[in-house]
Amino acid sequence: MLATNEIKALLAEHYDLTPSLEKAEATRDIYAKTDRVIPLAEWAVYAPYVIEINRLKKERNAVILAHNYMTPEIYHGVADHVGDSLQLAIKATEVEEDVIVQCGVHFMAETSKILNPAKTVLMPDMAAGCSLAESITAEGVAEMRAKYPGAPVVSYVNTTAEVKAASDICCTSANAVQIVDAMEGDTVIMTPDQFLAQNVANESKKNVVWWAGSCIVHELYEAEDLRAYRESEPDIKIIAHPECTPEVVAESDYTGSTRGIVDWVHEHKPAKVMLVTECSMATNISDELPEVEFAKPCNMCPYMKKITLEKILWSLHTMGTEVVVEPEVAAKARLAVERMIDLSKSLKI
Ligand code: 13P
Ligand code: SF4
Repeated sequence: MLATNEIKALLAEHYDLTPSLEKAEATRDIYAKTDRVIPLAEWAVYAPYVIEINRLKKERNAVILAHNYMTPEIYHGVADHVGDSLQLAIKATEVEEDVIVQCGVHFMAETSKILNPAKTVLMPDMAAGCSLAESITAEGVAEMRAKYPGAPVVSYVNTTAEVKAASDICCTSANAVQIVDAMEGDTVIMTPDQFLAQNVANESKKNVVWWAGSCIVHELYEAEDLRAYRESEPDIKIIAHPECTPEVVAESDYTGSTRGIVDWVHEHKPAKVMLVTECSMATNISDELPEVEFAKPCNMCPYMKKITLEKILWSLHTMGTEVVVEPEVAAKARLAVERMIDLSKSLKI
């Protein structure tokens, strides 16, 4: 991958990307969605990119699917559809455009490609990985099967196509408990997130066993810190993603997928809330919820943050980098992802 400075220099040969208050003015309707968190002078830097990306999207018949952890200029400025992993996977099966630009991490782009082998799926930065996806291989799944013969394998979507292909079904943080409960037999293997698995085990009627992977963003939160925060701010609502430890989840008022978190805050409109997840979540929804105060701290996902406006424009300009999944692997992985989508739809998740 080229360095951002090199990408900028190459883009400047084709587009006028100098910061412009005039272009900021021309994109005022988009800016209005995020003007409480992005100062106008900063938007003047983004606006030329936003204009070119939105123009090029039409020219290339492309759609941008963006995860809730994208920065606000991506989330509000250029995304066509935003959501959690489950929403993005379902949306990938519905879009009509020929090209999907995945603004998120690599496993999300792979999932889109697995579900749409005929479409071109572009990743603005192939190095946008995930500590969970990197923690297990198909051999790891085989090890778990050998240890727990006959137990079904439920793999989190935060896995590679090879791991999905070696699994019986996928799950996301939005449907994990229901998927595990729908499996046959008493014991269910969950990979690769030990904390998601432990949180599911606390709610499920199954005997859940797990692989020892973790998310480098969510594992950093400590229950003790949350307790101290609540003591100093007794009215605060604490909302945690289920990739946090069970101790952190036990301290929270609500736990759910990133979509579940967005919906919860919209529905309850607490005076003060702490989102125990990635930093962009609060920034992306704070304009829609001026009455809600979002407390820090938050942790940044270094993988998600690899996706920038420069790289998205470069991706659309060069039509790179294309995500490729070996057809045999994709066919098996598709079964695991489609089983999850079908089950989620039938359970109305
Ligand atoms: P969601 O499916 O809840 O959006 O989570 C994806 C993820 O990677 C969270 O770290
Ligand atoms: Fe992976 Fe954690 Fe980043 Fe989500 S936040 S993409 S689970 S490293």
